[in-house]
Amino acid sequence: MTHRVALIGAGGHGLWHRRTLQRLSDQGRIEVVGLCDRQPVEPHPDAPLTGVAFYTDHTELLRTARPEVVIICTPPHTHLRIALDVLGSGADLLLEKPPVMSSAEHDSLAEAVAATGRLVQVGFQALGSAALAELRAAAPAGPIGVSGAWWRPDSYYLRAPWAGRRAVAGRPVLDGALVNPFAHALMQSLVIADGFQPALMELERYRSRAIETDDTTFLRLTGEDGQRITAAVTLASEVFIRGEIQVGEAVLEYPTDRLRLPGEAEAREVPGRVGLLENLLDHRRDSGVPLIAPLERTRTFTAVAEAIVAAPPPAAIPQNLLRPHPDGDGYVVAGIDELVQRVASTGRLPSEIGTAWAEQPHRVPLRKKGVTHAQAQHR
Ligand SMILES: NC(=O)c1ccc[n+]([C@@H]2O[C@H](COP(=O)([O-])OP(=O)(O)OC[C@H]3O[C@@H](n4cnc5c(N)ncnc54)[C@H](O)[C@@H]3O)[C@@H](O)[C@H]2O)c1
Repeated sequence: MTHRVALIGAGGHGLWHRRTLQRLSDQGRIEVVGLCDRQPVEPHPDAPLTGVAFYTDHTELLRTARPEVVIICTPPHTHLRIALDVLGSGADLLLEKPPVMSSAEHDSLAEAVAATGRLVQVGFQALGSAALAELRAAAPAGPIGVSGAWWRPDSYYLRAPWAGRRAVAGRPVLDGALVNPFAHALMQSLVIADGFQPALMELERYRSRAIETDDTTFLRLTGEDGQRITAAVTLASEVFIRGEIQVGEAVLEYPTDRLRLPGEAEAREVPGRVGLLENLLDHRRDSGVPLIAPLERTRTFTAVAEAIVAAPPPAAIPQNLLRPHPDGDGYVVAGIDELVQRVASTGRLPSEIGTAWAEQPHRVPLRKKGVTHAQAQHR
């Protein structure tokens, strides 16, 4: 069975999807019936997608090319409107993360899913990891700590009009270290904490440069049952920490699928990732194949992301802690790698461990609404 597939948002991260489309097309699994972008998109040697029609308006693509499956890879604040059009056209959807901007938008999309009977898979590709499945099966006890320390130059924030912003032309947009680059870490930790229903969010958000949102974020979620997830991530570190999720004595390096379970001396690679588009196609053919990242599984992620971006603006990290990055194009925060590791492993926020420049955390109860991702998953 060949599926008719289209991509809306073919530039930027859309190249990643074009490569998948080229591969699946070469295998004869899909027919690529259209690409859409507001801007011209250069064919890439890895994914020329020769002869595929190009559209500048997604409604024209839906009407003319009549895809059965559509990938949306446009900026997050544009997702809902395009997604509703896709579902209304009768197509199934692979929607990039973060799927929507708020719980209200999540509800609108969930209603459209129910009304149309179509499928929505969300672009959290790390959920297809065999290492994550093994960690969940082992179910180690203990609090969850997430740490990551990356470097993004200042020019990273010039790549798109919404990068580093809270609003564009008066409309809210969604960006920030934990809601965007480290979104996979947050989503993985919510899935690991099976059935986690956050009751309280405590947040310290900081910026090392002149942006409106945070590039260094410390978050502690306390569940209704007292379980805790603490996340500490930065985009302003000279020392690279790829991204670790600790669960008691277990550690998953989530970008590389390296796992160390309690009692094991060293981390080992657990190969195997199921692709989200392939999984969606398999599910269309056989509903017995579960979707890896159905919309409902992301409800808690969206509630937390919404609460993060609604929090007061980030505090500036003092200039005297900033050092020029050796490659130029921006600064790093001295010692930030040690701080994120300490916060993740102790579950204590910078303000609670005597960090001189730390601000008091923003505390907000998270309302319970609808079903949790874990309940939805077991339906
Ligand atoms: N899953 C991942 O690991 C991952 C990684 C990076 C980005 N993303 C997500 O992918 C999405 C796109 O991110 P990006 O950095 O490429 O953003 P971007 O701002 O570069 O936009 C991507 C493309 O969408 C096009 N576009 C914008 N509005 C459009 C519209 N209405 N119709 C058609 N095309 C439109 C832009 O011209 C651009 O070419 C975001 O949701 C982002 O969070 C996911």
